[in-house]
Amino acid sequence: MTPGPVLVADGLGRSFGKLEVLSGLDLTIETGEVLGIIGPNGAGKSTLLSILGGGIPPSVGTIQYRGEDVTRRSAHWRARNGVATSFQVPRPFLGMTVLENVLVGARFGAGLGVAPAAEAAAAALERTGLLEYADDPAGSLRLLDRKRLEVARALAASPTLLLLDEIAGGLTEQELPEIVDLVREVNESGVTVVWIEHVVHALTAVATRLICLAYGRVVAEGDPAEVLASPEVRSIYLGIEPDLDEATEEAEAHAAELQEEDPDARG
Ligand SMILES: Nc1ncnc2c1ncn2[C@@H]1O[C@H](COP(=O)(O)OP(=O)(O)OP(=O)(O)O)[C@@H](O)[C@H]1O
Ligand SMILES: [Mg+2]
Repeated sequence: MTPGPVLVADGLGRSFGKLEVLSGLDLTIETGEVLGIIGPNGAGKSTLLSILGGGIPPSVGTIQYRGEDVTRRSAHWRARNGVATSFQVPRPFLGMTVLENVLVGARFGAGLGVAPAAEAAAAALERTGLLEYADDPAGSLRLLDRKRLEVARALAASPTLLLLDEIAGGLTEQELPEIVDLVREVNESGVTVVWIEHVVHALTAVATRLICLAYGRVVAEGDPAEVLASPEVRSIYLGIEPDLDEATEEAEAHAAELQEEDPDARG
């Protein structure tokens, strides 16, 4: 039996004053996928993620999560029920240690008791390669490790659905595979992932499906290589995104890998 979708958004719209950022957006997030979301600056990607995580409500539309209408549920409720968000601008408590930051996620995000939170935090640090920095102040971490900390905070809440906003932004080419591998590993452990990213070639190394948002709506959706090759996406990215060809190659290589792992799953 195929499990149903993790989340279904229907007719989402969001305005800020007179500015209509999203309109009539439908979205299904399938169990186990890595859904990549691309789109130009200001397209409404972070707004969408914020609506899915419960940070802000949609102006119109509904959200079903695991079969339940959660449109009016708070971010707090969603966090406790498996929706974890990592933000575009990492927001660690700089004065607290790395471990303490992750503990906050486990205790107050996921609502775990003291002992289970400690266990979950240690496991999250281990998985993200941050164990050796556990007692360092979060403010002392380099950017790559701050990104890992964002993921660790989210993982400590044992998420069903992980929402990542530009987790690769600002990293060097050498650092990118570290984050890509981490996302892949988290996904393989059973977490459904939605990843918004401008560094398209990093995204397509792991995304199983791609959506392009522009003008507040979905302009292309489906197989990553096909979405990147579509005339709509090409014209939107013309001149602003130099790595589309590289991203397409990554997407094709990743699709071939998936095909090899499970020849029945695609095509
Ligand atoms: N709280 C807010 N109040 C007013 N306007 C907002 C608010 N949040 C976002 N916007 C506006 O909504 C539009 C979409 O913003 P959003 O951050 O969702 O875009 P984005 O696709 O994530 O862009 P980027 O790729 O630059 O991160 C922008 O014009 C932004 O200025
Ligand atoms: Mg954004």
